[in-house]
Amino acid sequence: MVRLILTEDYEALCRSGADFLAGVIAAKPDAAVVFPTGETPMGIYRELAERLRRGEIDATRLRVFQLDEYLGIPPDDHRSLFRWMESALISPLGIPMTNVVRLSVNSSDPEAACQAYDEAVRAVGGLDLSVLGLGPNGHLGFNEPPSKPDSTTRVVELTEESIYSNARYWGARDRVPRRAITAGMDVLLSARQVLLVVSGEHKRDILHRALEGPVTPDVPASYLQLVPDVTVLADRVAWGPERVR
Ligand code: PGA
Repeated sequence: MVRLILTEDYEALCRSGADFLAGVIAAKPDAAVVFPTGETPMGIYRELAERLRRGEIDATRLRVFQLDEYLGIPPDDHRSLFRWMESALISPLGIPMTNVVRLSVNSSDPEAACQAYDEAVRAVGGLDLSVLGLGPNGHLGFNEPPSKPDSTTRVVELTEESIYSNARYWGARDRVPRRAITAGMDVLLSARQVLLVVSGEHKRDILHRALEGPVTPDVPASYLQLVPDVTVLADRVAWGPERVR
């Protein structure tokens, strides 16, 4: 079932997202959660860090799983998604590195690294929560279209659309890595809860295709329609003022 939380604007979305995550942490302080990078969740992470400073939450026992990572860049490249997650979430929330499962993109055998990641998810009994953004092409993580719901953690080729949308972080389109590792659809969709966070008018069309269109590998996020416990957190401009169900 998909539950919709609509907020007036991005600031309200961030407060609402932080409320949701604070609730998860309160219910299970050592919850296993996959967290995204991307622009959308940044305000939620800032709000959580603020609540931590005020002593309202304690996230230090969370078990954090990385969602996706570029292939073929040095491990400490500041543009790596891991470094971004570290500076935006892990470090501000004081989560020890021993609680973090990283996608090891620099191992000589990326396929083995993917299997190790899926094994780490199994070892904690599956994810409690997948926090996900929505790609302009309907991707979840780097599960690019077409992606089947049973696809495992794997090496993927980025689509032109994702390369285009990430070019802002790399300065130019031709600098964006062409390959990545993504947590698999099966891992993300089988989490006990999913929180999809969507902001901005540019996401409106893909958001409605994902939630109301056909369930198809061509829109990987459409498989969320089949997941038992999904919360979609969207601001009004993402949802569209004229469309309230
Ligand atoms: P965004 O990215 O939050 O920067 O829009 C979402 C995504 O591409 O998955």
